[in-house]
Amino acid sequence: MNLVDYVESKRDEHLNELKEFLRIPSVSTKSENRKDIERAAQWVAEKLRAAGMEKIEIVPTTLHPLVYGESLHAPGRPTVLFYGHYDVQPPEPLELWTSPAFEPTVRDGNLFGRGTADDKGQVHIHIKALEALKQVDGALPINVKVIVEGEEEVGSVNLWNFVVANKERLQADALVVSDTSMLAEGVPSITYGLRGLNYYQVEIVGPAQDLHSGVFGGAVPNPITILCEMVAKLHDKVFRVTVPGFYKDVGKVSEQERKALNSLPWKEKDFRQTVGAPGLCGEKGYSIIERLWCRPTLELNGIWGGYQGEGSKTVIPAKAYAKLSTRLVPNQDPWKIARAVEKHIRKLLPKTVRCNFEVLSTGKPWVAPYSHPIFQKALEALHQGFGRKAVFIREGGSIPFVTQMHDTFNVPCVLLGFGLPDENAHAPDEHISLENYYGGIKSVALFYQSLAQQ
Ligand code: BES
Ligand code: MN
Ligand code: MN
Repeated sequence: MNLVDYVESKRDEHLNELKEFLRIPSVSTKSENRKDIERAAQWVAEKLRAAGMEKIEIVPTTLHPLVYGESLHAPGRPTVLFYGHYDVQPPEPLELWTSPAFEPTVRDGNLFGRGTADDKGQVHIHIKALEALKQVDGALPINVKVIVEGEEEVGSVNLWNFVVANKERLQADALVVSDTSMLAEGVPSITYGLRGLNYYQVEIVGPAQDLHSGVFGGAVPNPITILCEMVAKLHDKVFRVTVPGFYKDVGKVSEQERKALNSLPWKEKDFRQTVGAPGLCGEKGYSIIERLWCRPTLELNGIWGGYQGEGSKTVIPAKAYAKLSTRLVPNQDPWKIARAVEKHIRKLLPKTVRCNFEVLSTGKPWVAPYSHPIFQKALEALHQGFGRKAVFIREGGSIPFVTQMHDTFNVPCVLLGFGLPDENAHAPDEHISLENYYGGIKSVALFYQSLAQQ
């Protein structure tokens, strides 16, 4: 039997096994899910073993364990390091799920559940591709090392320590990651660029305690008002970020690359449909694709303060808060940007309040050439697995590990994404298209097989 037929013959079995994985609520940000995280790590370890991987280790860290496995029985053949994550985002708001987040359900050719697209479904694609190779050929045609971590959604706090401590052992000819998306349905994609991410929290401190707004209102600065005035000044009328120096180091995207990105089979109509907002906005002078993939941004992610319960409460709050983040592109330096953002925010605030500014995390952007021959093999494997031509894209999301690996090992990073932009990652009704899930298994198996040739 060939690889494709083998994968076809296992459709139901694979789906049922993936559902098992998805039923484990491995939410990394909540301590109440600690046991589930453990269970998910064990589940991954067990399936890697079943797929023929060896030296399986569940490596404990100060937070969540990571799972490592390898198979090194193809001397003279390439070695790939696969990276994915088994942790997921919290499922809330629960009432917005059509079927419960941790009860995976198929509807209309899609599998719904938290982690289907980001990233359990995609991790499972690789486990089943390895298993298919082993079953069909009797042995893996290349050398494979696997890391599946449990802290990606909380910033991969401990992953890097493991990598640094195991630098020799993790040596590979390429890094392979499936934690991204396809450009659109029927357009298999290889991602060669991601934006970096800095995350900040701002606390505005006014009066020593909450005050009666009738007794004190009119003579005391209100932290919410001041916070809102400040954040309203972070963009200008053409949606450029007003932080001085924000764009200073941004590298120019070549005309050739702009042209290639803007002529991808991407439809604005579909994008509008996915977003579902009454209208769009963005930095003047750039196409939507460029705004999403090639331009840096500043976004408010949360803002709170004062009374938010039922009915009314007349109060001037003592404090107000905002969470915000910047997405970065080459050649912006995360720490330089963090300092510039802090300086600008402090400058915008009046002397009537104090401000605590915290940098919660930083992460570099990543863009790399795709001239290495391995990318041609990936294109061909995707073409064969999906029966459709694959394309090279950049994306706006962030995977800090990819940048770190690229900087440290200087190897090609092959990002094969099998999600779709409208599959609600991080949101209610997250799902993955079953066709892309099966197409993914076939493509990855074919890709690994092709790496064994010359
Ligand atoms: N899988 C995503 C990253 C992603 C999504 C890349 C879509 C490309 C397209 C990852 O799990 C994620 O959510 N990353 C976070 C950052 C992380 C440090 C928490 C992000 O991009 O916000
Ligand atoms: Mn992910
Ligand atoms: Mn994610």
